[in-house]
Amino acid sequence: MYPGLCVKAITWLEKCLDDSSGDILITAGSSVTAGSAVLFDLHPKEVRDELFGRDEEVEYVKRQVRAGNWVVISGQRGIGKTSLLKVVLNELSRDGFRAIYVNARGITTLRDLLAILINEINKSRVRLRLTVSLNFIIGSAGITLSRGSRVFNGLLELLLSIDEDTVIGIDEVQELSRVSGQFLKILGNVFASNPRVSFVFTGSYVGLVKALLRPSPESPLYGRPPVEVRLRSFSDELSREFLRRGFNELGIQFHAFDTVINRLDGVIGWLTLFGNYHGVRGLGIEDSLRETVNEGVKIMISELEHFLEDKANKALYLAILSALRFVNRWKDIKFAVTARLGREFGDREFVNALNALINYNFVERVREGEYRLIDPMLREVDYDELIRKYSRTSEPQR
Ligand SMILES: Nc1ncnc2c1ncn2[C@@H]1O[C@H](COP(=O)(O)OP(=O)(O)O)[C@@H](O)[C@H]1O
Ligand SMILES: [Mg+2]
Repeated sequence: MYPGLCVKAITWLEKCLDDSSGDILITAGSSVTAGSAVLFDLHPKEVRDELFGRDEEVEYVKRQVRAGNWVVISGQRGIGKTSLLKVVLNELSRDGFRAIYVNARGITTLRDLLAILINEINKSRVRLRLTVSLNFIIGSAGITLSRGSRVFNGLLELLLSIDEDTVIGIDEVQELSRVSGQFLKILGNVFASNPRVSFVFTGSYVGLVKALLRPSPESPLYGRPPVEVRLRSFSDELSREFLRRGFNELGIQFHAFDTVINRLDGVIGWLTLFGNYHGVRGLGIEDSLRETVNEGVKIMISELEHFLEDKANKALYLAILSALRFVNRWKDIKFAVTARLGREFGDREFVNALNALINYNFVERVREGEYRLIDPMLREVDYDELIRKYSRTSEPQR
């Protein structure tokens, strides 16, 4: 893996950040030659040498898995969830676990999930105890779901049949929220009945993630909540060290730490992207910052639009985010939103909107009554344009 590897495709950043290139079984670390420039590589990191500043998290997640706990790695986009998951899977696979990585982006049905798991299990030759084999046909190439078998039953039988220590990493698990009821039932059953299987999930925002972390009394996972590892931005000091090391690897003298860190905060994804622009592609500092922000804003807007899809009053959410660029106290935000949209909102409607933004990791509550935008890119979004766009599109429906 070398820097610049994914610069060619038009959607290169999306690809690099999402790693939606496929569902990968991790069995061994990629070879990293000492001294090669890896920190500013845009792919999710896979081995410890490539992973900056997350040793404690790697050790912690591994310990939890070994102790039989399931884990959710949470945090905003670009904060390093996929990288942490991949390194953990990699290391556990060296410690005798079977490790399976599943990227849930784009998976919307249990059938898709089952197909991917069957595929990965066949590839990795996980030992199965399919004695009942109610739902499967066992052939030389592995197993296939019998015709007419129900997906729910198949998935459950498959997970219950796994007969060696196996860790399954499901990246961006919230994508499965449409099937969360059935999925949670299966998980609850597996947790109770097959201690050889552990799950590590990652998630950028709630829905299923919340259901996993704080299962309600009706949930099959009630009383056995996964452990949450919340990834946060790096401090200024660590961000500085990351940039210093990255540029060092490339033999580049770099001094503009404050300029970069003030603009990008300690979000490792943005720092990596900046480092790639400046250090690998050779753009100047200003140009690299501009490109990083351009890409970051594009990604944020697409996340926002995803979030807004099912929201009735889109302008309210956008106006809150817009206000948070300048003010951070509850009253001031509400005042700014009312002024911006020219109408009053009830406290409940306003609080619900703010909470939804918090749940989706766009906004953070700093302390009682005080909030801030979680990602520096959210400061750079043109909210007026988005508000105009949504006012236009909602007009005909009125
Ligand atoms: N600890 C780390 N050290 C070095 N680079 C990292 C680290 N964590 C993430 N990155 C880089 O940051 C970007 C985003 O990481 P990723 O793991 O995809 O985040 P997420 O899954 O939270 O969106 C990638 O380019 C990745 O290479
Ligand atoms: Mg990811």
